[in-house]
Amino acid sequence: MIIKTKEELEGLKASGRVVAITLQEMARELKPGVTTAYLDKIAEQVLSSYGAISAPKSEYDFPGITCISVNDEVAHGIPGPRELQPGDLVNLDVSASLNGFFTDHGMTFMVPPADKVGEKLLLASRRALKKAISVAIAGNKINNIGYVVETEAKAFGFTTIRNLCGHGVGRALHEEPSDIPNYYDPMDKRVLKAGTVLAIETFVGEKEYFVEEEEDGGWLLKTPKRTRAAQFEHTVVVTEGKPIIVTQLDEKMK
Ligand code: CO
Ligand code: CO
Repeated sequence: MIIKTKEELEGLKASGRVVAITLQEMARELKPGVTTAYLDKIAEQVLSSYGAISAPKSEYDFPGITCISVNDEVAHGIPGPRELQPGDLVNLDVSASLNGFFTDHGMTFMVPPADKVGEKLLLASRRALKKAISVAIAGNKINNIGYVVETEAKAFGFTTIRNLCGHGVGRALHEEPSDIPNYYDPMDKRVLKAGTVLAIETFVGEKEYFVEEEEDGGWLLKTPKRTRAAQFEHTVVVTEGKPIIVTQLDEKMK
């Protein structure tokens, strides 16, 4: 959506705050022995306590409240009886609507103890997102985002997943612009407009460039060679200056 009024911005911010709180509450419980279904249950309780509705469920009939993807699962992991193990890389992706405003937020964590590469992967993806958000300014081309994400990943010796992208968000989970690639496409001439709401999500991979579907009903996306990837995602509003990040609780992005 394109934000035109103060009321719309406030509505989006309220949604983003609930989504950020939900992810924070889930992350607090991330420890060995905990099942992904338990983490999803927490999300269900927090979202419903604010009157928010799971977006994957309402929009796509996803068999979970949130997406929880472990290790070589890169996205759309279905919460279930899997128990988290020490050293697991876990992605929590929470998207929801509140009063008709949709926001989308994801973070990746390591269940201690973290290995060196895993830690570096998280750092690279987190930094890539920070840089991507810093160029999401009205008048800039969308491909600036892919450029900085790819550059940051390469600087760490990593790849980006080319078939997983960011997207427009706001009045639905997925809107125009329909794809915000994590690589530089010189042919992409699209320019960002003030007020546009984007879910920018960086997918930084250890070695691979693509994910493929697994046989769990077509949801789960894994890397063919089972290497890991780390996603970080924020919903932001594009302005003429600094973008407004609506899915973080602190003013300053870590
Ligand atoms: Co998401
Ligand atoms: Co998203």
